[in-house]
Amino acid sequence: MGSTASADNGGPNAKQKKRARLFKVSPYMVIPSRVGGFSLFLKQGEGYVLYAEKGELFTDAHKERLGELDVEHLYVKAEDYPQYAVYVQDHLEEVLGDEAIPVRERARAWNDATVSLAKESFDRSLPKSMDKRRFGKIRSLISHSLKFLARDDALKELSRFISEGNELFRHGIGVMVLTVSVLNTFVKDDADLLVAVGMGAMLHDIGKLELPEALFTRRWDGLTQIEQDMARSHPALGVGLCSSLPLPQETLQCILFHHELEDGSGYPSGASGDLLPSYAKVLSLCNEYDNLTRGGKGKKKLTPFEALTRIKSRRGAFNAEMLKRLIAVLSKAELA
Ligand SMILES: [Fe+2]
Ligand SMILES: [Fe+2]
Repeated sequence: MGSTASADNGGPNAKQKKRARLFKVSPYMVIPSRVGGFSLFLKQGEGYVLYAEKGELFTDAHKERLGELDVEHLYVKAEDYPQYAVYVQDHLEEVLGDEAIPVRERARAWNDATVSLAKESFDRSLPKSMDKRRFGKIRSLISHSLKFLARDDALKELSRFISEGNELFRHGIGVMVLTVSVLNTFVKDDADLLVAVGMGAMLHDIGKLELPEALFTRRWDGLTQIEQDMARSHPALGVGLCSSLPLPQETLQCILFHHELEDGSGYPSGASGDLLPSYAKVLSLCNEYDNLTRGGKGKKKLTPFEALTRIKSRRGAFNAEMLKRLIAVLSKAELA
């Protein structure tokens, strides 16, 4: 067994795979009468001991023993992690609705399930166009998450996990959580709309996969006019990638309009506020906020206060009412 384990919150990445062979998972994911397609280990001193074998039925005794031992983390081998992620996705609705599980642990499960799915969707080495199966999984994940995301304490706990890293899929998750949280302040009962916009928010930058990565890692003013035009084509390319699927109009509009601005200075259409649906305004704002606070690739990571100040200074670019709602959501979660 490896002597180190990563405190990773989103499955193994290439660097971690090299130095770590085990990943921390929540003991609350041991659900009696369910079978995991992965082995679970307990840390003992410097080593690890087998707690439950792959394919073993979890029982009440398993769960009780974890309580008796006061176990904070269980561990899954890197090669079993994909099966673990699928298990969490399959049981997510049940886990998120279980009031016996602390909200922080539910947030951790949500992150484990979401990261692996989002990562797959933004993997440059996989076929780029969204297939029906992957899309269906994203749809059900978001629909199972709505109740949890509507809780006052969810965003605070989730932010511990979703603020990490600056990969495209993490940005997609961050923007999705914020967008749904802001929408929840005025369209809480429209589940279809929340799911459609949530999907669009998670996938809004998918079109970047069609373009060279370097276009999005260099400074904007260091790009030639042609390169800037190419970079600006990512919303339309994103719609193209999803065009073979019967998607709600709101999802496609989110992908297409996420760089439009209230004053008409955005792209691709340059439509101004009165022509943009309110969910697109929320998304455009949350996209900007997440980009500023996530930083990375030569850009400074701003604090929430700095990011909001920057956004406010761009008078007219973002919808004032949506900005107010975003600030209220962030302060409620003690994030701003
Ligand atoms: Fe974008
Ligand atoms: Fe974005």
